[in-house]
Amino acid sequence: MQETRIQIEPLSSICVQKDDIEARCYNIDFANIPEVWQMPLQPAMQPKKLSRIALAIATFTLFLASAAAQSGKAHPWMNTSLSPDERASMVVKEMTLDEKISLLHGTGMRGLSPMSPLAIQANGGAGYVVGIQRLGIPGIQMSDAAYGVRSSGENGRYSTALPSDVAGAASWDLDAAYEYGALIGRELRAQGFNMSLGGGTNLTREPRNGRTFEYLGEDPILAGKMVGSVMKGLQAQHVLGDIKHYALNDQESGRNAVNITIDKRAARESDLLAFEIGLQETEIAGVMCSYNRVNGDYACENKYLLTDLLKKDWNFKGFVLSDWGGTHSSEKASAAGLDHEEPGEIFYGDELKKAVESGKVPVAEIDDHVHRILRAMFATGVIDDPPQKSVVDVMGGFEVAQKIAEQSTVLLKNEHSQLPLDASKIHSIAVIGPHADVGMISGGGSAQVDPPGGNAIMPPGKGQTRWLEKIWFPTSPLKSIRAKAPGANVQFNSGADPAAAAALAKSADVAVVFAYQWESEGMDLDSLSLPENQDELIAKVAAANPHTVVVLESGTAVTMPWVDQVSAILEAWYAGSRGSDAVANILFGDVNPSAKLPMTFPKSIADLPHTTVVQPPKESVPNYMQRDVWKQIATGLAPFPVTYNEGVKVGYKWYDAENKPVLFPFGYGLSYTTYTYSNLKVTAGKEPLVTFTVTNTGNRAGAEVAEVYASLPAAAAEPPKRLVGWSKVKLNAGESKEVSVKVDQKYLSIFNVEQNGWQLLPGDYGFMVGGSSQNLPLKTSVSLK
Ligand code: BGC
Repeated sequence: MQETRIQIEPLSSICVQKDDIEARCYNIDFANIPEVWQMPLQPAMQPKKLSRIALAIATFTLFLASAAAQSGKAHPWMNTSLSPDERASMVVKEMTLDEKISLLHGTGMRGLSPMSPLAIQANGGAGYVVGIQRLGIPGIQMSDAAYGVRSSGENGRYSTALPSDVAGAASWDLDAAYEYGALIGRELRAQGFNMSLGGGTNLTREPRNGRTFEYLGEDPILAGKMVGSVMKGLQAQHVLGDIKHYALNDQESGRNAVNITIDKRAARESDLLAFEIGLQETEIAGVMCSYNRVNGDYACENKYLLTDLLKKDWNFKGFVLSDWGGTHSSEKASAAGLDHEEPGEIFYGDELKKAVESGKVPVAEIDDHVHRILRAMFATGVIDDPPQKSVVDVMGGFEVAQKIAEQSTVLLKNEHSQLPLDASKIHSIAVIGPHADVGMISGGGSAQVDPPGGNAIMPPGKGQTRWLEKIWFPTSPLKSIRAKAPGANVQFNSGADPAAAAALAKSADVAVVFAYQWESEGMDLDSLSLPENQDELIAKVAAANPHTVVVLESGTAVTMPWVDQVSAILEAWYAGSRGSDAVANILFGDVNPSAKLPMTFPKSIADLPHTTVVQPPKESVPNYMQRDVWKQIATGLAPFPVTYNEGVKVGYKWYDAENKPVLFPFGYGLSYTTYTYSNLKVTAGKEPLVTFTVTNTGNRAGAEVAEVYASLPAAAAEPPKRLVGWSKVKLNAGESKEVSVKVDQKYLSIFNVEQNGWQLLPGDYGFMVGGSSQNLPLKTSVSLK
């Protein structure tokens, strides 16, 4: 591709022309030249001198051309009564090869690829794809948006932090998931983005994975349904959605090199099923392939994953984009089904063009990649209704974040009804824990949302968010608790000195310890223990005060050597912008908890399927200190093996099958009221219908996640049970409701590798219903064929 940078004297502006695709001039502040401009120019990019008059003429001509092009007549694909496929095909027919190639890659990112000067039009997001002005196709502005829009700090904007994704899954509430996505979609648009890079769908099979907080738990049906709802809400705002990291990207250690070995049946029944269900729930624009290798091939050039499964079996109509630096070839990747390289154009720029010109990559293959991108843009509405920058609805965001936090905080223990606290009877409360006076912790990495005012534990004005630093949101447990108990003496101790904290706890009616465990992309946890000596702190406080409540701020399971010593435990996860108010509402009973664990909390890491996270050898780790680190990643780091020999036994299925007692099981969570289950009936059929009654037997209103599990005939050789459906039921005190859950036949099937399809084995199926995977009072069995 011919790319020309034109330099004008004096050095105050630069014009860039990339073939006939786009030509723009920019005013540059040369006192602050970004590093991108300091990279050596390719020969084709050497500055040329042009007279101002020639430039003015060129600019005016371009303006006229683009004005003409913008009229409906010139762009028949702007007819919204045509289908997205028809519209995309019409555009593809008009495109030059250069224009096609330009849609198939991003414009670069420092560290991960060379930068194109065109990146200057990016909106401060993780990715930018140049649009085709001539044809009225806008650029794609991508932002990470796992639990809110990323990088708002460095862009001088504001974003709401929702509770982390794993928290969202703990709500088991599909409407809440829709709201989750809708809020992210609205804030992306307000900030000028038209594509989200959220939608983490990997199963939390390895709880020490530093990105567990970005995912939706350990069950494929829960994760798939929840991500489907998040994407429905997001794409309804006319933003391209994406789900990631496809697939089996379950550890950060050596993520660019690791080769995951897993058998087909286990893969299809676990992680891949979560993606399959998510994609079935709604038409999602993008699937981001992951960094790792799967059964020998990189995920982003894995024909089985990208073409055979995703595009053929699942009939995925959107486009596959690589994780940032996850592309490793042009020909092989293109043939395998990778549609788009991010963040730059190492393989999908000139190299891909040359491969097309020499006949190594058929034009039809390129057309398919382009068609998929355009189709997704038409289908999602980003062309018909492009984002308009506006002011984010901060107050509206707070409301949604708080509501979801209230629905996702899990009550794990409540001995002698310690909770809710009665503010009218309590005279003194000790609030204990690192930074519980100022804030609550958030999840890091590319998911990081920036708190307003910066990191709450830094001095004012010094609160930038930095990679691999713990970021605390200014949502203060101490303030929220004081507001709930205005008549009580509420004192704070950081817990740095456990003895001093215990002395304060001893003097108070109740002690509430806020304990944290931090996670981020780019790291894994060594263990599931709380850091900073917090286990000792909790044990000492609990020994000093029998009314000790622990509030956990974690992104994954934690081990609790003090579990029997404390009277109540709340799992608040990374609770988002309004976390402390949500927690206080639960502590004082304004909200009745209704969340359930989306992942098992084991007793010890010795009980996990893998006792350690396999660490990469030196040659499998990129050296980020080197300027050309991207070359090492792109050309490939030495593979090292991780074998998922647990097979289909992922999450609770492992503990069930191996008879390992757990600390808190999958699907578990208490309420301030109680529920009973009765009248189970299962009507056999193509989609068996499970009907039962749930009664609220306590004296306050609540919402119960009623869970349905099934056991398969012995011939299936499956773990003892699997989740096949659920319903979150709202019940007033004393109220009963009949609940019906229709079970998709696939959820009762095994994956038959020889037949390459789902198979329902004829035989007796057990159906079990109740409030957690280990509390299933209703049981029956039916014969299915
Ligand atoms: C992460 C992705 C993210 C991308 C862009 C990668 O390092 O794995 O999840 O979307 O960066 O920031």
